[in-house]
Amino acid sequence: MGKKIIFDTDPGIDDAFALLYALNHPSLEVIGITTVYGNVPVKLATNNALILSELSQSKTPVFSGKEKPLERKIKQFPNFIHGDDGLGNIMHKSPNLKKSDKTAIDFIAGSINANPGEIDIIAVGPLTNIAASAIEYPEIINKVKSVTIMGGSWLAGGNITPVAEANIYNDPEAADIVFKSGWPLTMVGLDVTHKVFLSADQLEHLSKIGNKCGQFLKNISKFYVRFYKDTKNMNGCYFHDATAVIALTNPELFEFKMGRVFVSQDELARGQTVVFLDEKNHKNPINDGRNEVKIMSEVESDKAISKFMDIAEKFMK
Ligand code: BDR
Ligand code: CA
Repeated sequence: MGKKIIFDTDPGIDDAFALLYALNHPSLEVIGITTVYGNVPVKLATNNALILSELSQSKTPVFSGKEKPLERKIKQFPNFIHGDDGLGNIMHKSPNLKKSDKTAIDFIAGSINANPGEIDIIAVGPLTNIAASAIEYPEIINKVKSVTIMGGSWLAGGNITPVAEANIYNDPEAADIVFKSGWPLTMVGLDVTHKVFLSADQLEHLSKIGNKCGQFLKNISKFYVRFYKDTKNMNGCYFHDATAVIALTNPELFEFKMGRVFVSQDELARGQTVVFLDEKNHKNPINDGRNEVKIMSEVESDKAISKFMDIAEKFMK
């Protein structure tokens, strides 16, 4: 059996790529999918996670999580990026699979307590579930094997504001709690996810592999690709959340720095991740003893895309 994974997500089109990659990867055993508001309300995120679990034929259980940030109100759902249904407005039929009765927080804590040192968390939405788990069950922080997040930015600026990445922006208090709690954390932020790009030709190739997952991914991406074309004149799309999973399966494709990450909570710079690298001698005004985390800084983009395509060709159903 491979790495035991808890996959925390707000599907979302790039979440769908990430989740189908993880669910089909032979070295990963996704033991549960936990959902969070973000790209869509949590009810829809849970529905979409059930669709993806069913599509992968894994029937991985789905646990519904937080419906809003720890302290703030939700500002808006990005339906202009992911569609009203979060899956590019394909209006997929309702899944037969039902969500579990257990909450995401209880599932996360229960699984880590039952498998100390064995569970890797991948979190590709706002960090509300992860922070809430740390607040309610602090003992799990030292028992988790690793936490890989898609979120934040070291030097790449922001995507939702000039300085903030969307997942961190959505719940900056939760994100700061996660960065200061002591989790063994890897931040896969815009510094690398803005370097990994799936072209229109590669999407076409995915749909021709001849499995349902590939066709589904091409189908949901039409809306997403149009957004990138209209707003950035790109011919394809970023691969944010999938890049975070590839960082876990293929860390050899990445370079990283070690540093301490602080999340801005004031309105102007809300969600900005301010990174104090160990190698710099910057004076830190808020030295609260938080631990250093791994900050992905470079990626071999073509190889990362090839790893995804490999899994799509060999293992997706
Ligand atoms: C992140 O924001 C969401 O819209 C995407 O799914 C991804 O997790 C990128 O900033
Ligand atoms: Ca996401």
